[in-house]
Parts: sequence; structure tokens; C-alpha cells
Amino acid sequence: MDRIRIRGGRPLTGQIKISGAKNAALPLMATCLLTDDEVRLENVPDLADITTMTNLLTHLGVEVTTRQSLKDRSVIFSARGLSETTAPYDLVRKMRASVLVLGPLVARHGVAKVSLPGGCAIGTRPVDLHIKGLQQLGAEIDLDSGYILARAPGGLTGGEVTFPKVSVGATENLLMAATLAKGETDLINAAREPEIADLANCLNAMGAKIEGIGSDHLHIVGVERLHGCTHRVVADRIEAGTYAMAAAITGGEVELVGLHHDLIGAAAATLAQAGVSLIETPDGLLVRRANGVVSGVDVMTEPFPGFPTDLQAQMMALMTTAEGASMITETIFENRFMHVPELTRMGASINVHGSSAMVRGVKKLTGAPVMATDLRASVSLVLAGLAAEGDTYLNRVYHLDRGYEKLTAKLSNCGAEIERLSDGAAE
Ligand code: UD1
Repeated sequence: MDRIRIRGGRPLTGQIKISGAKNAALPLMATCLLTDDEVRLENVPDLADITTMTNLLTHLGVEVTTRQSLKDRSVIFSARGLSETTAPYDLVRKMRASVLVLGPLVARHGVAKVSLPGGCAIGTRPVDLHIKGLQQLGAEIDLDSGYILARAPGGLTGGEVTFPKVSVGATENLLMAATLAKGETDLINAAREPEIADLANCLNAMGAKIEGIGSDHLHIVGVERLHGCTHRVVADRIEAGTYAMAAAITGGEVELVGLHHDLIGAAAATLAQAGVSLIETPDGLLVRRANGVVSGVDVMTEPFPGFPTDLQAQMMALMTTAEGASMITETIFENRFMHVPELTRMGASINVHGSSAMVRGVKKLTGAPVMATDLRASVSLVLAGLAAEGDTYLNRVYHLDRGYEKLTAKLSNCGAEIERLSDGAAE
């Protein structure tokens, strides 16, 4: 298994081009199941999760063509020859977002069988909201032998779905399904993440009728059919926030290229409180410490437009060497502090009490062999390694491959000493 070696202590300076968002691309890929025409997505990141979704769609009979140019990666999907409506366990267990094929399949083909995603390193993460919502649109659902069996032989019917809890994936599944339902659907207490707006804009470009984009109330008027479209995937705000924190923790100056300030509003506001400025430039955002010091701030994760849970671990890494203390509270997922023991091994001072972690800033971190059990926890250790004295060896690099395109190249272009060691390579 590959590892990453980081020799810490170098300030990052330069530019980092922000990739297309993984969490936008995954649901966008599933939209192809709603039409026989071609859906062409531009700015698709080259990531393990995208490959997993591609494999799932290919298994269902979707034809997938990738076009790589120097500037961009486009992928064309054609579900004209769809031959399967079952998403098997072996494919779904690799990635929870596979459940996003459920809504489109049952809406268009009247039947879907999708494996339950099962356990996950950051909590139990059920799919009850996806299931209940589809039932409210008239789908008959059974759970059998670890599979969700959904049927709507006469098609789905529009209705009112009020989510008891904000869920990104359930909103996306229901939004896709409602585009082809008979009549009108209201999704109330819908998630408002920018990736959902991106999905809704793509669906409207395919002929859907969605109103209320960007709000927590989506109104959808069902249509008979959708057609193909070309859509550009929105920039990855989590990748951008991660590199902003990397610049801050190393005391460097980095321009994040291809990203608008609105996308990372809450993270930018929190960083500003901590003494890290994000200044708009013609091409993106320039990140640097405002007066040389990062100060401890309290952070609570919330659904958008609040501070994203997907930046919680990276923010904690930044806080480990800040001046003063910081209370970090995770409200979205249980058990999302697995980076804490690893950061502690690097010299951080962190105490966890339930869903909050008290971080007391230390003068320095020291490199150590570390590993993590999920994507964002892994990258928080990369950030810590960039700031630490000495060498950090990060194991289980495959977590990073799921969500960070060209991570080592992007960081080393900004002066980081970071390299990927293939299996068996000498230390
Ligand atoms: C998406 C993101 C993930 C991010 C998360 C929260 C993708 C591919 N992944 O995940 O990176 O961390 O949003 O911003 O976009 N819940 C239920 N029942 C359900 C569904 C969810 O109880 O049926 C709970 C979850 O356990 C969690 C909360 O709702 O506590 C939010 O989860 P959700 O927004 O659904 O996350 P995902 O869509 O899985």
C-alpha cells in the first residue's frame, strides 16, 4: 500500500487550481439515468470515487466516454442501452453515494434494487430519509437481504416531502426522482449545499422544472421526459477550504484559482476570525495570515450555509498550532473525530467531550507515522505534517485518492516537501 512522506516546515507559496467538486460530480453522473440522450459533464475530477460511480453506471449498461484535454476532463454518459436496474453490494459498499442511483432508476425505469450502503467509518449514516421520501412519491419499497427494492410500475407521483433532518443525499435523490414524477413535488427542509444547486441547474438544462434553487424549499413540476445537456461541474469548495487551511497552517501565501468567495462563505468567515484572510483576485482567492498569527476560534459544523463538516478535521489541524484555545463541535456526524488520536501523536493537545473537542494550541507539532480512517481525517494529517517539525508518514493513502485530485503535485508545486512512496519504496 502506498504512503505519503511529508517533510514539514515549509510555507506554501504559489497557485493551486481547484478541481471540480467530487460531491457535485457524483449526483450529476446519476442524472444520465433519467434520459436516453447524452449527458456531458465538464470539469470532472479524476478521483477514485468518480471511478467507482463510473463502474456502477457501466454495470447498469451506461456507456461512458472520457475525454481528457490539458485543461479539462469531460465525461459523456449515455444510458440509452441501460440493461440493469440492480446496484450490487460489491459496488455500493465502496462508496455510499452509490445510493444516488436509486431515485433516478425508479423514476425512469419503474424499478430499482440497490444494496444498502452499510456501515461507515464516520457513523451509522442511515438511508431512511431517501426511502421515506421515495415512498411519499408513491414508490413501494421493501428491504430484503441487504437490498432496497423500489417499485413504481406506473411511475412516481408528485407530493410533499418534509425532511425531518437536513440531508444532502436524500435531497439529491428526491430531486432527481421528482423531475419525472406526475404532478408537482415540494421538498421542504431541503439541503442547500451548492452541489445541490449545481444538480438542479443541470436538471433544468435537461428540461426539468425546478424552482427555489439555493433555498430549503424546492418546487418541482414533473415533466414527461428529460433530454441531454452539457454541464460544467462547480468548483470543489472543500478542496479549496483544505488548501486555504494548508496555506494558513504553514504561514504561506496561496492563490486558489477557479473559485468564487460565495462558495466558501462560512469557512472564509471562520478563517477571518482566526486571522486568515481570503482576498478576492481576478482568478480566485488569495489566502494568507493577516498579521502573522493564527488565533483559536470556536467552530460548529452545520448544514450549508454553516461551517461544513467536511472541513472540520482540517480546521482542527489548523487550530492545533493556533494561539489560544478552540472548541470544535461536530453536529452532523457521530464519531467524526478519528483524526484526534493521530493529531495527538504529533504533539497536539486535544480533549474530546462528546461531540466537542477542546484544542489548545501548541508551539509546534512533530512528524510521526500516522494513518486515518476517512478522507477528510487523512487530509487533516497532511496539513499537520506540512507544519510539523520532521517527517510524517501517512498510511492508507487510498482515502486521499477518493477526494483529492493530484494532491502531492498541487502541494509540491507550492514548495511543500511531499512525496508518494509506492509499496516497498525505501523510507
Ligand atoms: C454528503 C456528502 C458528505 C458530507 C455530508 C454532509 C456527498 C457525496 N457526500 O453526504 O461529504 O459530509 O453530505 O454535508 O455529497 N441521515 C439520516 N438518514 C438519511 C440520510 C442521512 O439520518 O436517510 C443523517 C446522516 O447520518 C447524517 C446527516 O443526516 O447525520 C447528514 O447526512 P447527509 O447530508 O445525508 O450526508 P450524505 O449525503 O451522505
